[in-house]
Amino acid sequence: MTINALPKVELHLHLEGAAPPGFIRGLAKEKHMDIAGIFDERGHYAYKDFWHFLKVYEAATETLKTPMDYHRLTLAVLEESAASGVIYSETFLSPDFCGGRDLGAWREYVHAIREAADQAQRDMGITLRGIVTVIRHFGPDKARETARCAVETAGDFITGFGMAGDELAGKPKHFAYAFDMAREAGLRLTAHAGEWGGPQSIRDALADLKVERIGHGVRAIEDLALVDELAEKGVVLEVCPGSNIALGVFPAWRKHPIAELFRREVKVTVSTDDPPFFHTTMANEYDRLAEAFEWDDGVFRKIARTSLDAAFCDEDTRAQIL
Ligand code: ADE
Ligand code: ZN
Repeated sequence: MTINALPKVELHLHLEGAAPPGFIRGLAKEKHMDIAGIFDERGHYAYKDFWHFLKVYEAATETLKTPMDYHRLTLAVLEESAASGVIYSETFLSPDFCGGRDLGAWREYVHAIREAADQAQRDMGITLRGIVTVIRHFGPDKARETARCAVETAGDFITGFGMAGDELAGKPKHFAYAFDMAREAGLRLTAHAGEWGGPQSIRDALADLKVERIGHGVRAIEDLALVDELAEKGVVLEVCPGSNIALGVFPAWRKHPIAELFRREVKVTVSTDDPPFFHTTMANEYDRLAEAFEWDDGVFRKIARTSLDAAFCDEDTRAQIL
């Protein structure tokens, strides 16, 4: 079977980070905004390092001003995912960018995104769920407001709660209150850790936020006792190899720890994170992994199964997908 045709499940995708540069340029033009500085001469997003990437990401997000912009964005993103063979996707959504954490506005954004997801399900056969996401470097007070938005919209579309942003800003325990609120509302939990922080950052996210999945988590490889613990407890890692390589967490595909984590029976999954920023797609991730580690269809089917089992959806949805 060709890589494109393999059914794929993506658990770690930032909706704004998946916006094609041409889509963002189009919105900027419509709104007479000058954002030329975030692109290089070929029209790709341009950034120097992760912290600059966060700034460019936020600048691109400035062009997304209405629920209808997010409706269009959701369709554009799901079209790309479906073209890579993705059949189920979870996307991080941030009330910070969708109405500034105002609850009434946030509801309108969720409604628009959900309508686009329903349309994509009908037209492209791809299923989407939303994970409301705290931006860590915006601080714990905003995280609480974000949690309130999440709690108010929790249901069969908004099924998860997470944290992204600068992992080196603050400590997980500062966000425990927000995660407790989300857990009590029945939301499933994930947090970015072990991308820029080392093993202790992962331990803290697990202990203080009680998350069942970790975004990235790849720097667990620096502590094999932690790797064993992740395997034993069945903690799922949302691994984004192309993102890690583009941002310089690891120097090359062959040096990426995903194969070693897989060999040590950690539940690894594969996602793109912010695909146009990292010049990747789900099909490209699979291709590069097959090339670097001689992974065959059997490995990818196992990874898709692990991913679906870890998906933040109900059992009926899961049963319909693979
Ligand atoms: N937001 C978007 N992409 C991210 C990443 N790779 N790490 C942390 N926050 C992010
Ligand atoms: Zn991410």
